[in-house]
Amino acid sequence: MDCPPSQAPSRRSFIASVSATAAAALLPMPRDTAAQARISEFTIRAAPARARLVPKPHGLTDVWAYNGTIPGPEIRVKQGHRIRVNVHNDLNEASTVHWHGMRVPNAMDGVPHLTQLPIEGGGQFIYEFDAIDAGTFWYHPHQRSYEQVGRGLYGPLIVEEAEPIRVDRELTWVLDDWRLTESGAIDESFGNLHDMSHNGRVGNTVTINGQILETVTVRSGERIRLRLINAANARIFGLHFSQLEPIVIALDGQPVSPHVPTDSIVVIGPAMRVDLILDMSHRPEARLSISDKFYQGLEYRLVDLIYADTPLRNRAPQWPMALPPNPLAEPDLGAAEHHRIEFEGGMMGTKMGMMHSGKVWFINGVAAQGHVMEPMLTLRGSRTYVIAMTNSTAWHHPIHLHGHSFRVLSRNNRPTKHREWQDTVLMAPREHVEIALVADNPGDWMFHCHILEHQASGMMGVIRVDGDGAQA
Ligand code: C2O
Ligand code: CU
Repeated sequence: MDCPPSQAPSRRSFIASVSATAAAALLPMPRDTAAQARISEFTIRAAPARARLVPKPHGLTDVWAYNGTIPGPEIRVKQGHRIRVNVHNDLNEASTVHWHGMRVPNAMDGVPHLTQLPIEGGGQFIYEFDAIDAGTFWYHPHQRSYEQVGRGLYGPLIVEEAEPIRVDRELTWVLDDWRLTESGAIDESFGNLHDMSHNGRVGNTVTINGQILETVTVRSGERIRLRLINAANARIFGLHFSQLEPIVIALDGQPVSPHVPTDSIVVIGPAMRVDLILDMSHRPEARLSISDKFYQGLEYRLVDLIYADTPLRNRAPQWPMALPPNPLAEPDLGAAEHHRIEFEGGMMGTKMGMMHSGKVWFINGVAAQGHVMEPMLTLRGSRTYVIAMTNSTAWHHPIHLHGHSFRVLSRNNRPTKHREWQDTVLMAPREHVEIALVADNPGDWMFHCHILEHQASGMMGVIRVDGDGAQA
């Protein structure tokens, strides 16, 4: 089955977009938004469900899902519109929803105890915020994420550009990696010390939109915009498209100058998104594989692309690929204040003696216990900060900051080519990465590794942005 989640029949109960004027706005409107903002309303319900992750003769898998589907319903709005989501929690435990990558007001960020009380089982919460940036985002719980996300709670959030670039077809693939038993059930070993201290809960079953896709049909000459979202707890993908040359046009939702990825491999750490342009350049009836080559010696075929027997056109279209920029404040590097952050811990690290107590990872020497803590940094509103980060561990870490996007300035002291905006930057073992941002969204924001087992075992901190002078 190759229907994207937006066409799955089980989505019909999902409440369609409703346009209205913002008469009862819960939040102050940003100054650049007209009072007549359009509101799109959605309802999502987190609950146990059964899903066909693996084909017969395996059975259905017991999962936790939003509105009964994996992934949860697509939330899609136009840039500048307001999103209102009524979240019901029908789990037997508390939950929240975090809008990953969206620059929302702090109270809407979905971090338990830090920005809101958790939504108890049987409870509900209404989130409301403006879609300031166009791009590819996603949503997931921030309560016991390593288990709640790992059991299937996540969904895509797409903000369309006011004037989207022209393509023939758009696809969204939410990638996940499950650890299943022989019978197709979810392996219950969540949060064990081995996963926590190594590379997280890497699984054994990779799905695209909740299924094991065998083939996807394409047409010669067709231009596809492929939005990739990595919703896995821990698996990093390194996708190779055989003889196709994918062009990266956005990273973590933010436009980047269109470019071919290094070594033709699209690397996507947990929580990251990549938007690609694929010009289908082969003859009718050709067949080629997309494979994942990230972990050496563990390559596998993800899915095959099969060309239909009739071409759509004879050569690739010449339409522009560059996306319009989002309204991000440009860091003023000359006036920047500098800080350092060091990540330590894990197996083969220098702090192994401290692993008792289940805390395995440290940011500037501190292992987090829960979401509420003293801020590791306090930033002044609207100022530019350059943060030099060092990964002193033997492991990869996708490092995520809430409420902001940052420019990646350099890696191992060499300037990056595209100075890309990201909300999650993948750091290789021993790597040194410099980022820059304008602290323009006041509040207490999580800063953590998005390998969810690392986050749960200490690799998390709070960065405070003072309100003074913000949104000047
Ligand atoms: Cu994707 Cu702290 O989150
Ligand atoms: Cu990590």
